[in-house]
Amino acid sequence: EKGGYDYFMLKEIAEQPKAVADTLLGRIDAAGSLTLDEIRIPVSVLREADKVVIVACGTAFHAGLIAKYAIEHWTRVPCEVELASEFRYRDPILGQRTLVIAISQSGETMDTLMALRHAREQGAKVLAICNTNGSTIPRESDAVLYTHAGPEVAVASTKAFLTQLVACYLVALYLGQVRGTKWGDEILAVIRDLARISHQVEKVLDTMEPVRELARSLADKDTVLFLGRHVGHPVALEGALKLKELAYMHAEGFAAGELKHGPIALIENDLPVVVVVPSPRGRSVLHDKIVSNIQEIRARGARTIVIAEEGDETVVPYADHLIRIPATPTLLQPLVATVPLQVFACELATARGNEVDQPRNLAKSVTVE
Ligand code: M6R
Repeated sequence: EKGGYDYFMLKEIAEQPKAVADTLLGRIDAAGSLTLDEIRIPVSVLREADKVVIVACGTAFHAGLIAKYAIEHWTRVPCEVELASEFRYRDPILGQRTLVIAISQSGETMDTLMALRHAREQGAKVLAICNTNGSTIPRESDAVLYTHAGPEVAVASTKAFLTQLVACYLVALYLGQVRGTKWGDEILAVIRDLARISHQVEKVLDTMEPVRELARSLADKDTVLFLGRHVGHPVALEGALKLKELAYMHAEGFAAGELKHGPIALIENDLPVVVVVPSPRGRSVLHDKIVSNIQEIRARGARTIVIAEEGDETVVPYADHLIRIPATPTLLQPLVATVPLQVFACELATARGNEVDQPRNLAKSVTVE
């Protein structure tokens, strides 16, 4: 049932192009409009919502962090993202005009379930983004947008994450569509880019051998740091989480702009630091800032592992290892930038002799608070 792969995780990483395509299937019409009738929340509620609050745990939380950038950029509706386990304990401000989005692969995560119950008690409408048909979280929500990743067996989430991102983009674009905000050429271009993205994920998968080799060469390291900016920051957090749960290594993700506020003190000779570089097109200011960060950490001895768009030559002189990803619009970059980090963590786990599909102390769905 592992389809010829050694681990479910490898199989699920390889299934990502299809999972992404399946999650888009039937949801965008030929004219480039979104047809999300399955979101049974009345359009009037979506139009009048004055705030979006996303609740989720772990990898799903990272998808939520990325969704915030898309939702606020495309709809101009304020969006908060909160760890489900913290949410109800701080007495959050919720009302009938709050749209809550609960993201969960399993649909059974107790922390997320308790957060959504709390939100509904306060009168908020809850939309679930979920991969498991008929599970508890969608059953208790007002509406659900299913991700079509297929069953995910490995404890470490991979294909579910990519499809959660796709679902979040769809919700953000749909909100923009029904609210009439910024509905123009940019959005149509994004929809076209989304339709092509599964091929780009496939391209990334085809070029992963050097990443595996690199991972094996780092098997005896204690720490790996991850840096990113904008949507690359949650990607860095996700890269670090994957490494913790699979390789049992100390791994941390930082917003690159925070380096100078403390974390740069951690940099020492030969410390591996993975840097997710934003596209040089689009938000080029951020691109240039992160290139300076790479120079700074390298000057202090870091071994720089740089993930950058094809054609971005500015990073070449400062990259000890360069991992190329296809050019995408800034907001969609996590769909391609996360894949090498999954492969990296999986290979490090194998090199360290760890159980890939069933890491110690972890369960696939966490049904206790
Ligand atoms: O089933 P869920 O999406 O609600 O699970 C949330 C987290 O427990 C999950 O993403 C966890 O962090 C993964 N093991 C990460 O790979």
